[in-house]
Formats: sequence, structure tokens, C-alpha cells
Amino acid sequence: QAALPPNHTIRALRSGDYERGFLQVLEVLTEVGNHTKEEWLERFDYIKRHNHECTYNFTIVITDDVKDRVVAAGTVFVERKFVHKNGLVGHIEDIAVDASQQGKKLGLRIIHALMHIGAKRGCYKVILDCSAKNIPFYEKCGFTQKEYEMAWYV
Ligand code: ACO
Repeated sequence: QAALPPNHTIRALRSGDYERGFLQVLEVLTEVGNHTKEEWLERFDYIKRHNHECTYNFTIVITDDVKDRVVAAGTVFVERKFVHKNGLVGHIEDIAVDASQQGKKLGLRIIHALMHIGAKRGCYKVILDCSAKNIPFYEKCGFTQKEYEMAWYV
């Protein structure tokens, strides 16, 4: 496993990460929206309150502890299936590394931590969707290409 750079921490998402720029880090992915603190807490608290009811949803971040900023983030959620005898599947979503911090193995650390969380929670596989240009990154993380993604936008 690659080591984290000095003064960096990997940990669970906290409500105070609103101020540490968690939502700004996600902007490398897509439009995030300008959440007020109240709108952020609405979603953060909902996930926390309902986390063990059906789908387990866990977000981790890497922080730069000198700057007190979030620099990378990722989520795994656990789907409860009937197939594979009530099997569990982990889904990795919203992997984002701050543009100025890319290429320092932070993405790799986030993915390996999420794979580990999925395995510890009993998933028989962990899957994700990505663009063609990110395939080499996920292969380096230990994934292999399977199937195709389909989407329907409402
Ligand atoms: N093409 C080829 N190799 C790559 C690429 C790429 N696009 N990206 C990373 N790699 C390689 C690195 O060179 C490195 O290889 P090495 O071990 O031989 O040196 C290895 O993959 C690990 O790279 P990291 O330094 O950990 O990559 P980084 O921290 O930059 O994170 C990420 C990669 C997440 C794709 C980041 O660049 C990013 O946030 N991009 C913009 C947002 C994005 O595309 N997120 C993923 C969406 S898919 C999803 O969320 C499920």
C-alpha cells in the first residue's frame, strides 16, 4: 500500500468537512450545487440516521492537516441482494481528488480503503462505473473491466 504524504489523514466524513471544502473537492466530478450549511446537514444527518436500515453508505476523505482542508474523497455503499443467497455488493461512487493534488496516490489510497470497507462488510464484489480514460487508474487499483454502463436521465 502507498503511504499517505506527511500531515495527511484518511478518515470518515464529518459534518465539519463542509467548512474544510469537501463539496468543493467534488467539483472535479460534476456540478455539485451551492449547498447552504443547512442543506449539507440535511443530507449528512439523513445518511447517518438511516445508515444501517437497508443500504450502508460510507464516505471517506483524505485531509491535509496543515491546511485543514479535504483533498480527496470517495464513497462506498452496500446493496443487499437476493441473488448469491442474499449477497452483498459494494458500489464505489464519487471518487474525487483535488485538481492540485492529483497524481500523488491519494486516489489509490481512497479506493483501497473503500475496497477494504466493502470486503469487511461482507461484499462478495465491489463495482463501479467510470470513463474510458480512468480505466488504467482503476486497473492499477486492482479492478478489471466488465460489462457496460447504461443510464437514463429523467
Ligand atoms: N490514466 C492512466 N493512469 C492513471 C490515470 C489515468 N487517467 N490516473 C491515475 N493513473 C495512475 C497513476 O499514474 C498511478 O500509477 P503508478 O502507481 O504507476 O504511479 C496510479 O494510477 C494511481 O494514481 P493516483 O495518484 O492515486 O491518482 P489520483 O490521486 O490522481 O486519483 C482520480 C485518480 C481519482 C481519477 C483523480 O485524478 C480525479 O479525481 N480525477 C477527476 C475526477 C474523476 O475522474 N474521478 C473518478 C470518477 S469515477 C468514480 O467516481 C467511480
